Amino acid sequence: MVEEARGTEEIDRRVAALLDRMSLEEKIGQMSLVNAGESYIHDDLAEGLRAGRVGGVLNEVDVGTVNELQRIAVEESRLGIPLLIGRDVIHGFKTVMPIPLGQAATWNPDLVMQAARVAAYEAASHGVNWTFAPMIDVCRDPRWGRIAECFGEDPHLASVLGVAMLRGFQGPDLGRPDAIAACAKHFAGYGAVESGRDYAAANVPENELRNVHLRPFRAAVDAGVATIMTSFSEVDGVPATANERLVRRILKDEWAFGGFVVSDWDSVRQLRIHGLTADDRESCREAVTAGVDMEMHGDAYTVHLPALVRGDELDEELIDAAVRRILRLKFRLGLFERPYTDPAAFLPCASEASLATARQAALQSVVLLRNEHRVLPMSPEALRSLAVIGPLADAGDEQLGTWVFDGDPGLSVTPLQAIRDLAAGRFDVQYLRAMETSRSRDTRAFDEAATLAGQCDATVLFLGEEAILSGEAHCRADINLPGAQAELVARVREAGKPVIAVILAGRPLTLANIVDKADAILYAWHPGTMGGPAIADLLFGIESPSGKLPVSFPRMVGQIPIYYSHKNTGKPPTPDSVVHIDNIDPKARQLSLGMTSFHFDAGYTPLFAFGHGLSYTSFEYSSIRVSRDQIRLGESFHVHADLRNTGAIGAEEVVQLYVRDLVGNVTRPVRELKGFRRVRLEPGQQVVVDFELHTDDLAFHGRDMRLVVEPGEFQVWIGGSSEAGLRAEFRVVPPA
Ligand code: BGC
Repeated sequence: MVEEARGTEEIDRRVAALLDRMSLEEKIGQMSLVNAGESYIHDDLAEGLRAGRVGGVLNEVDVGTVNELQRIAVEESRLGIPLLIGRDVIHGFKTVMPIPLGQAATWNPDLVMQAARVAAYEAASHGVNWTFAPMIDVCRDPRWGRIAECFGEDPHLASVLGVAMLRGFQGPDLGRPDAIAACAKHFAGYGAVESGRDYAAANVPENELRNVHLRPFRAAVDAGVATIMTSFSEVDGVPATANERLVRRILKDEWAFGGFVVSDWDSVRQLRIHGLTADDRESCREAVTAGVDMEMHGDAYTVHLPALVRGDELDEELIDAAVRRILRLKFRLGLFERPYTDPAAFLPCASEASLATARQAALQSVVLLRNEHRVLPMSPEALRSLAVIGPLADAGDEQLGTWVFDGDPGLSVTPLQAIRDLAAGRFDVQYLRAMETSRSRDTRAFDEAATLAGQCDATVLFLGEEAILSGEAHCRADINLPGAQAELVARVREAGKPVIAVILAGRPLTLANIVDKADAILYAWHPGTMGGPAIADLLFGIESPSGKLPVSFPRMVGQIPIYYSHKNTGKPPTPDSVVHIDNIDPKARQLSLGMTSFHFDAGYTPLFAFGHGLSYTSFEYSSIRVSRDQIRLGESFHVHADLRNTGAIGAEEVVQLYVRDLVGNVTRPVRELKGFRRVRLEPGQQVVVDFELHTDDLAFHGRDMRLVVEPGEFQVWIGGSSEAGLRAEFRVVPPA
């Protein structure tokens, strides 16, 4: 019966039959998502459920309470429509995976999918059937606290990983008890908020919007994402929640999105605060007209929609269309057949397998930024003593990162614990926290830190940002290591022993002031529950680092936005056109200094490039080939290169392929990621890495905003970062 009900036609028939029986108020009720929580059902919520005024509830994860909510909806309301139960399961439920930006650094869609599968299973065991993830905003501004929640700066990487995550949540079949509906957010342009200040306006021209910010959403729609959330901010003067062009015309009409659109938290009523509308009634009309099917937390729809429809200001067909979309998902989830959750049918959370996935995800997320004199990996046998210093070495809750409503810090294994376990008496571990928090300016413990560093063979510093410094509304204008951490690095450095910095943070930090003072830097993001063991395995060479940066690291904040797929400009910089501010000739005239696109004090390159990440072995790329010099429009072709592990240990490499379209009717980026693959190579092993591309992969939105592939010359690179130098050319020609 459940199987049968899920056939699209059958579902449409059932939706139509149900809709026929619904009063206007009951329809509007389905469009309302109400906040609950605290394992308690308030009287007015219970009353709303009985009256059919609630379509979904968010933030209740006590399974008994969830079942009671469902029971009231199903047994005590006139039509017995079950509820959507929503929750932000952003990077894990009880078992916390690395923050999404860290997961992006794995460049491993299978692992991202697996991590989401674990999260879905654990959340579903608590009655959750809908999550507000993946967040697929493309972000090129590390000041924005929400960069932690996204997959970084590149639309292709965000598309592939976003699709992997939503497939992990939704599983092969939404009707399975352990599948939950995904919600791609925030539609659209939210990653481009001005100065990385949350909720600010995003000024993105349509061509950039389509070629960059909308791409992951298009991919999510094509992959069958169940729902999409509008963004809090405005694009081109119109807040997303009232943006008819974005929501109705592009998402629903042009892309034929079949799921439903939910507002962000109270973002319907915020239309008035934006200054777009005069009151909630007008906001309600704007949002429904734009195509926002469900209002999250806010009562504009419930209060004003009935009168707007009865007063002929809104066509009831708009309401019917929204309700159809919502009911369809409830049928697809099998909620009419199975509204209740039996926790006994699930394995307990944080199972061995879940923790193993979290550990693997953490392991692959860590990026080795620098490793001078091959100071890493350390050898447990050769080491006599290790100083472990810093505010984030033993902070089980901080390593979980932002958005961990349900994460259990008690499950966290910290780096200090893991290093002690790994030492197991073989070497001595001396720990000093040195700073109360990452923000502390108190340097009183620094003498002791310097002394300790001098007494030990090496020091590992655990630096970065606490979880609270990133995430929604948690933005920074200065993205250096906060507090007195740079001074701590300098003091420990003075001891003259090897210094290894492990940085835990929710964003790329500007590291120019410490980069030369650490022999090695491992960037661990907020690595989640199993961050400690993953980091320890990397420090001691049980595993080799394989993470790659999903976002460029600026040298200083003034370079932002800095990203690899920028435009060439009419005056592109070259190494010899750059003049540093300290070297300006006193006799220089206005037109004598390079006259290319760079900053006097920062040049034009990032400190660490997109795609960068070192390994304990070395990889050599050679012999890039394109299967044909000329490719006809509409054809597939192959690009391959040889890859050899020239080092002494087996390790994984993320092979990346970039393309440049040399001429376009709108200018094209200097490089665009078009493919990537994780491969494992044993020492001395050589493989051919092959990528199949189709000319459709070269498409972009042109001046008329239509998707086009233009015949012409292309360059292609294969390598280990966006700075890959191994290049070939090909030409796309019109069809025969
Ligand atoms: C955030 C969303 C989130 C929602 C529900 C909002 O403040 O912007 O991303 O899903 O809250 O918690």
